[in-house]
Amino acid sequence: MEQKRYGHFDDQHREYVITDPQTPWPWINYLGNEDFFSLISNTAGGYSFYKDAKFRRITRYRYNNVPMDNGGRYFYIKDGETVWNPGWKPCKTPLDFYECRHGMSYTRITGKKNGVEASVLFFVPLKKWCEVQKLTLKNESSETKSLKLFSFEEWCLWNAATDMENFQRNFSTGEVEIEGSTIYHKTEYRERRNHYAFYHVNAPIQGFDTDRETFVGLYNAFADPQAVMEGKPRNSHAHGWSPIASHYIEVTLKPGESKDFVFLLGYIENEQDEKFEAPQVINKKKAHALIAELDTTEKVDKAFAELCALWDNLLNIYKVKTGNDKLDRMVNIWNQYQCMVTFNFSRSASFFESGVGRGMGFRDSNQDLVGFVHQIPPRARQRIIDIASTQFPDGGCYHQYQPLTKRGNNDIGGGFNDDPCWLIFGTVAYIKETGDFSILDEMVPFDNQPGTEVTLFEHLKISMNHVIENLGPHLLPLIGRADWNDCLNLNCFSWDPNESFQTTENVSEGTKAESLMIAGLFVVTGKDYVALCKKLGKNDEAARMQQAVDAMIAAVKKDGWDGEWYLRAYDFYGRKIGSNENDEAKIFIESQGWCTMAEIGAEDGMVAKSLDSCKKYLECEHGMVLNNPAFSKYIYEYGEISSYPEGYKENAGIFCHNNPWVIIGETLAGRGNDAWAHYAKILPSYVEEKYQTLHKVEPYVNCQMVAGKDAFKPGEGKNSWLTGTAAWMWYTVSEFILGIKPDYDGIRIDPCLPETANDYTVNRKFRDAEYEITIHPNGAQKGVKSITLDGKPVEGTVIPYSAGKHVVEVTM
Ligand code: BGC
Repeated sequence: MEQKRYGHFDDQHREYVITDPQTPWPWINYLGNEDFFSLISNTAGGYSFYKDAKFRRITRYRYNNVPMDNGGRYFYIKDGETVWNPGWKPCKTPLDFYECRHGMSYTRITGKKNGVEASVLFFVPLKKWCEVQKLTLKNESSETKSLKLFSFEEWCLWNAATDMENFQRNFSTGEVEIEGSTIYHKTEYRERRNHYAFYHVNAPIQGFDTDRETFVGLYNAFADPQAVMEGKPRNSHAHGWSPIASHYIEVTLKPGESKDFVFLLGYIENEQDEKFEAPQVINKKKAHALIAELDTTEKVDKAFAELCALWDNLLNIYKVKTGNDKLDRMVNIWNQYQCMVTFNFSRSASFFESGVGRGMGFRDSNQDLVGFVHQIPPRARQRIIDIASTQFPDGGCYHQYQPLTKRGNNDIGGGFNDDPCWLIFGTVAYIKETGDFSILDEMVPFDNQPGTEVTLFEHLKISMNHVIENLGPHLLPLIGRADWNDCLNLNCFSWDPNESFQTTENVSEGTKAESLMIAGLFVVTGKDYVALCKKLGKNDEAARMQQAVDAMIAAVKKDGWDGEWYLRAYDFYGRKIGSNENDEAKIFIESQGWCTMAEIGAEDGMVAKSLDSCKKYLECEHGMVLNNPAFSKYIYEYGEISSYPEGYKENAGIFCHNNPWVIIGETLAGRGNDAWAHYAKILPSYVEEKYQTLHKVEPYVNCQMVAGKDAFKPGEGKNSWLTGTAAWMWYTVSEFILGIKPDYDGIRIDPCLPETANDYTVNRKFRDAEYEITIHPNGAQKGVKSITLDGKPVEGTVIPYSAGKHVVEVTM
């Protein structure tokens, strides 16, 4: 298929530049680093929220709609009879020039039409609860231009779920106030809410609208709002129905002249006894203060410079120079950026996740923080405490929690038996990065109940115990509702399409369903736990858990090996899953990944055979599929996994998240060529070059799933942005391929590279030190021969930590 291009990387500015607005799918970006967030597409679609995309939605969005990506922050420019938008949508008036630059927490969209350039910079200033939209209008023609400018935002009535469904109430509750150039949204503020939002512009306005029907017209659309088409605002005041915010400004520009307008979408909270300044009139003190901080171009430019400086610092922590642009740009820019985004949002809000359904995942967030911990360790620390606070006293955990309340989510509950292990994974990564063992002494409650606090270390211990207290007939871990694969539901036998596979556990009594994925995960995290205990001088505990790890290894070797690969599971009745004996889905990727990472049976050739089988049965042009052959029919005893058509999602899709597990297995086995080949297949910059149209979703980040070899359209991507793939790609490339691995006492250096790798340098800030590490591979795939630290030889592969600047040379 001819692959049309829609954009390109601009590494110098750390941007992806989109040059055609009609991308194969909206290509989005995220604004905001803490508290206030926005999603923005390449045509300015998307929405904003404060902390929680479900409970504090500020602007409204229509998901999965026709046309796609409907609603956003729109500027309409009426120049004579022509009405156009800088981002092309929603009017879709053909532009003379269009460009969208997605950068690090900002987006700049520029359009030109009939001699006028309109450029909008969107970002959320650090530590502020607002989105800035700096619009610059420039007259590039030789005549004076008289333009009519309309802004547009649509308010969401806070709870994004009820906003979508409870119209019988909503159509009567909407309330606004207008003061000067600011439109305030105060729905439900009269009762229990202590927050409101506003939309402001730093210029006098000549009109406004706050009622959608009046502005748009009941039978018109965002593409042709009546007020704009007629060039006349209505000065409407919303009472119920659907409140919006639109400013109207008349702009005259002489030839060559340009003007800036700073629009601010803000969010304010007031103390209960300070909510009103007069009966029914909201207290605007904080809004005025926020506006005053950002009411000039100079102030906005300064705030933008601060945001860019933050990213300079963040991206200076780990920087590689290999000479391969495609690798360097992913490692130095986009992979790290995506890790920040997944850390912030878990799986809540994207163009595939509505923000209404899921909050923060227990397992997801623990994995996400491994991709992020080097960037802002204190935030990772807080996250670990938040996650652990949703654990139950028996070591099980809420599968998800809500970011605003930090409370476990009762809709889904617990019972996913891999969850506890991930707490070890996240915590160990945090301590290795920071050397901060004090986190283990933090007092952390169960299920957020005050009075139940025990130390975080105790939480880790009961996490491990939860696995060994829940073993099945083969002494392998019971799977519970599911393990990492949410769709392998071995205790849910369902013929009712209205039942959720995840929360229905109708046959758990007497279950024999066991997971080899959890077995491998337990061995990996168990070894980490044992090492941690030894480090803490808890030798009895280390010995106790070492025994459990050894027993698990023995159980896998005895009952978890199928001859050429590791089994995937035993079902409710104790029958094999992921075995040559099965008709379909004979081999699964998850257990190959985790058991090879755990190096189970390496001495007997099991690891090498498993990795070879991945190449033989799972690998295809676009990556490794999850299982092979795909399920061709629904299997009542297996659950959701077999509900998908062949090649999609958990039924033989390329679930990018788990490819890195096998890649790490390859690196531990020293197979650098194979590791690299697998890695490059799902590395966005390689995909970008080859498959922009086919791949469909954003070419600068990983997506959760790429259609597998059995699918109708292999190579087509879905569910971009919010996926554990980001953290795993980072962990894999930074620690296992490039081989720079934080450890308790320093940095372990152990690369695993393709034979073709050239010399490369990594600049790594680590605690209070800065290392410049140059690796000379000399054609080796693995094996460090010698290391010097500041010119002196080092024993072994760990460079001992000491503050200050250091130069390291590594010969392989
Ligand atoms: C979930 C993960 C899960 C994966 C595989 C994702 O959508 O967020 O928690 O491990 O699917 O089922």
